[in-house]
Amino acid sequence: MFWYGWCGLLMLFLSDHDVERMLDMKDVIEAVEEGFKLLAMGKVKAPLRSRVSSERYNGDILSMPCLIEDFKIYTNKIVSVYPENVGRGIPTIHAVIIVADAVKGVPVALIEARYLTALRTGAASAVATKYLSRKDSKVLAVIGCGYQARTQTIGVCEVRNIQKIVAYDVIVEKAVKYGEEIREKIGVEVEVTDSAKKAIEEADIIVTATTSREPVVKREWIKPGTHINAIGAYTPEMRELDTETIIDSKVVVDNMEAALSEAGDIIIPIKEGRYSKDKIHGELGEILLGVKPGRTTSEEITIFKSVGLAVQDNAATYALLKKYARELQV
Ligand SMILES: NC(=O)c1ccc[n+]([C@@H]2O[C@H](COP(=O)([O-])OP(=O)(O)OC[C@H]3O[C@@H](n4cnc5c(N)ncnc54)[C@H](O)[C@@H]3O)[C@@H](O)[C@H]2O)c1
Repeated sequence: MFWYGWCGLLMLFLSDHDVERMLDMKDVIEAVEEGFKLLAMGKVKAPLRSRVSSERYNGDILSMPCLIEDFKIYTNKIVSVYPENVGRGIPTIHAVIIVADAVKGVPVALIEARYLTALRTGAASAVATKYLSRKDSKVLAVIGCGYQARTQTIGVCEVRNIQKIVAYDVIVEKAVKYGEEIREKIGVEVEVTDSAKKAIEEADIIVTATTSREPVVKREWIKPGTHINAIGAYTPEMRELDTETIIDSKVVVDNMEAALSEAGDIIIPIKEGRYSKDKIHGELGEILLGVKPGRTTSEEITIFKSVGLAVQDNAATYALLKKYARELQV
């Protein structure tokens, strides 16, 4: 953590390490829930993110601006997603957030945001899980055991009393390492399986956090009453859920416009002519405000389809800067 001069101004720099030390999941869940409520009230200014793709290097770079006047900050996150980095032994996702004071427009901070992105994504799933999953959910299936899987798990375990986790990854070593870390961090038992089917058949809650382009979840494997957080697919060509799962479930999206332009999980079934946008139940913020109901029966299958929104970054940044200001006072 340090300050440095830029255009004659002093700016705060916070590294991933600082974020990890200062912020915990509880803080971010609270901030992200508030952010989604403000979004549903029309109090968040965030145009659809822009994505530039490098076909040559197989990567995407996204720019995600957001102004929340109630939080008094403007944030813009630059985030890259390079799936082939797994083979290079470096992270798939890298990110930084530039923060400006919304009152005067002055840039105030630069935040390394790889960990913050994982936290806010886990927090959004936690909020969705709180409102959409059965309260007696005990078994969590995690499909795709990379970086996001850790904070997805911590988020879900923050809001539900999970007794067992069943994990699957195409690279078995990744699932094993994830299991060891989760056991150590939150003390929940993790069983590694050799198929997504085995993990899903047992689950009350499913998290999909893969870079897959083909469905990793099939409808016939899912028990009645299951809740799914599908967070991996973020382009029209990517998907993690098969069409039957979408058709048979109550689908809640983070944002309608973003889901209809980025979420292959929804766009592909629409293109197939088997689903339509009016079948989407609503946005997470609408559920939080009580404008639309969440889960209404113990039998229904619910889905939170998240592509990731700038409002989550802004809200998590707000929580971080509040923590930082508190640290300065002691
Ligand atoms: N919704 C959001 O807000 C949000 C936020 C951050 C990342 N993401 C997306 O989540 C995905 C995962 O991100 P990450 O940082 O964890 O990446 P990661 O590379 O660290 O992890 C992905 C894991 O999925 C596994 N995998 C790939 N295909 C699979 C399959 N068919 N079945 C089982 N496992 C499979 C990989 O082996 C890897 O372990 C990316 O697509 C990323 O863009 C979404």
